[in-house]
Amino acid sequence: MSKTRQAVLMADALQHMPQGVAENYRYWGDDRTVFVESAKGCRLTDCDGKTYVDFRLGYGPIILGYRDERVDQAVIEQITQRGTLSGFATELDAEVVKQVKALCPNVEKMRFANSGTEAVMGAVRTARGYTGRERIVIVEGCFHGLYDEMMWKSDIENWNPHGTSEPTIIPFGGGIPERARGLVDFIVLNDFEMLERLFEDHHQELACVLLEPIIGNAGSIAASQDWLQRLRDLCTQYGTMLIIDEVKAGFRVSKGGAQEIYGIHADLATYAKAMGNGYPVAAFGGRADVMDVVGSFRGGVVHGGTYTGNLVALSAAHATLKILTQTDALKTIDRVGNQIQALLGRVFAASGIDFAFAGPPAMFGIHFTKEVPSNYRDWRITNSELYRAFAWKLIDYGVMLEPDSREPWFICESHQDVDLGWLEDVATRAMQEACAEAVRK
Ligand SMILES: Cc1ncc(COP(=O)(O)O)c(C=O)c1O
Repeated sequence: MSKTRQAVLMADALQHMPQGVAENYRYWGDDRTVFVESAKGCRLTDCDGKTYVDFRLGYGPIILGYRDERVDQAVIEQITQRGTLSGFATELDAEVVKQVKALCPNVEKMRFANSGTEAVMGAVRTARGYTGRERIVIVEGCFHGLYDEMMWKSDIENWNPHGTSEPTIIPFGGGIPERARGLVDFIVLNDFEMLERLFEDHHQELACVLLEPIIGNAGSIAASQDWLQRLRDLCTQYGTMLIIDEVKAGFRVSKGGAQEIYGIHADLATYAKAMGNGYPVAAFGGRADVMDVVGSFRGGVVHGGTYTGNLVALSAAHATLKILTQTDALKTIDRVGNQIQALLGRVFAASGIDFAFAGPPAMFGIHFTKEVPSNYRDWRITNSELYRAFAWKLIDYGVMLEPDSREPWFICESHQDVDLGWLEDVATRAMQEACAEAVRK
């Protein structure tokens, strides 16, 4: 039997990159790592010609669809007529900030970055610079990018949810110095007692609390309105900066991100992903008095970088934000997301399994459990193994998603073209097969 193209490409790639991939999260095993040939709309075609309807969307940036001509044309025009970067200011810089401000009233001033990680680094440094304090707080299950201080997590996978001990805090992997967590505290989403205790014990030291109120990295498990409001109030009371990480939720769950849904504003927020429909653009911004600590004056918070505000990124952001502002794209996404949840709900109900959806239709999590989890610890008692089996079956049937229930289903405008009858049919088959396998085990 002749080798698949995937096997040929993987064997070659293994010679040149650790695990044969450009970054860790793309490695799905030597046999299953996906090599993409092309992408258009909501579909991916792999190197062996198999097509998938994609609900993974590159971990969320695709909000309109792959190769959206409106965005691509704006970028082409920019780079062929004006250039990619010069290391100087352009008119477009403030134009894009004005677009963001029109959608996100929490933003008064903003700076750009090249990735979500960089945006978070900028926001955290700004919060420290403004408050003169050093400790930072993160919420269990949230992800804020790959830099040492953010690369600590509660080891929920190896924690006994029925025991009495707290989960251990571990680094994401090798190479992260122990001292990098010295200034980081953890709290549990929706846990009022822990929140009160944190501020009682440490309020003088806390520069910021950083969170995704809808945890795009834990199956869209969401903060309750009351808990987020209490967090907002405590931050205000003690002069701690509330940083809302909108890298996944921003320009997706609503025009103004998670903050618009809750009607609660952060002091600083971070943006990336949907802001550029797949082009690498990111930003952090918020209160003008806080952002104004950033600058090249003595004692100012340093922020910069060669590619910051490059014109490939800014022209893509400008075109994407214009479309999100002027069209019903997000309404379409919500409608399609609701339809897909409804059909999946019918599939799960027919298989007799407990299920709960979490988060908004543009970015929803599926949890095989009776009640919607209220924090990351609750995720541990969901049947994530059954989800994994279901996801792998769906992938075989041509539906691309992350086989881990902590990664939500992302909807883009192009999903309005999906044949929902087909999706219900393959989801039914995938679920029946996953359940049958679970019984055999
Ligand atoms: C909420 C959140 N913050 C930050 C990041 C880091 O973004 P990037 O991968 O662009 O560095 C991510 C990435 O998934 C994210 O989901």
